[in-house]
Amino acid sequence: MATARACANIALVKYWGKRDPARNLPAAGSLSLTLAALVTETTVVFDAAAAADQLVLDGAPASAGDLARTAAILDLVRARAKIATRARVTSENRFPTASGLASSASGYAALAVAATRAAGLDLAPRELSVLARRGSGSAARSIFGSFVRMRAEGDAYAEPIASPLAERIQMVIAIVGGGAPKSRGSRDAMEHCAATSPLYAAWLALVPRDLAAAEAALAAGDLDALGAIAEANALAMHATAMASRPAIVYWQPATLALLAEVRALRARGVAAWATIDAGPHVKVVTTIDAAVEVARATQKIDGVTNVMISGVGGPAAIVEAPR
Ligand code: PMV
Repeated sequence: MATARACANIALVKYWGKRDPARNLPAAGSLSLTLAALVTETTVVFDAAAAADQLVLDGAPASAGDLARTAAILDLVRARAKIATRARVTSENRFPTASGLASSASGYAALAVAATRAAGLDLAPRELSVLARRGSGSAARSIFGSFVRMRAEGDAYAEPIASPLAERIQMVIAIVGGGAPKSRGSRDAMEHCAATSPLYAAWLALVPRDLAAAEAALAAGDLDALGAIAEANALAMHATAMASRPAIVYWQPATLALLAEVRALRARGVAAWATIDAGPHVKVVTTIDAAVEVARATQKIDGVTNVMISGVGGPAAIVEAPR
């Protein structure tokens, strides 16, 4: 058995589109920040007495779909370790309750680390990243801490990027509740965009430019440039989704109000740039010095049900393993 912990990450240049859905290979690169406040802890026990893989998520038996995705990762681990034993998997999201945040990135990263160790394998971080990617594209990035770049070529793996901004960047996460319908899953939504959005080709042409600019901003320690790219890139991703037919619209009224608040903060000289994933919540790129002011401003918005401040998270790691 082994237990691993991984932090979620939020993309600053988004992954939105696959070149090979079967192997879950991304059509373009992406770039993210790993967050300390959003942690998943997963234990994997290979159990000779188990007839089938089992998955308990946050204390309850998982859905058939979640179990099948987990079993697919376990199958890859078993093939590599040359074992046939089934596993019992328990996974807990240490996110503040009712956060409404997706946990696939931290979840599949923690699963990859725990399952390989439990099977007696000792994989390099890059191999763990490739394995986690099979569960969820963004999970490949959660193997690493701080700023992370995902490479789309070849086996598609992530790797860390050093930047002086890691010392002062923070993220404010504004959860939009208010009875919003469940968001359309990213996997299905990406395929729908690729098949029907007239803006999809333009999106794919944009990503390499935003990646190059974001990496230059990271190297230079230029938060203004990084924030501006992150906000513009997220809006371009959502424009692509909105233009698909029928449309995919993730935003709620509070999402737009948050975007306006972030612009107002910036106009007052506060470091704040918005990014949005496949849901209504808004994540604000900011600094250690400005985070409390940004959190207060977002908390006031009608429809915002929870606000968190997160610092930079570390890499996925084993918590316990047999000696
Ligand atoms: O990792 P997936 O398949 O859930 O896709 C992630 C999609 C976004 O969160 C919208 C963007 C990203 O790069 O994380």
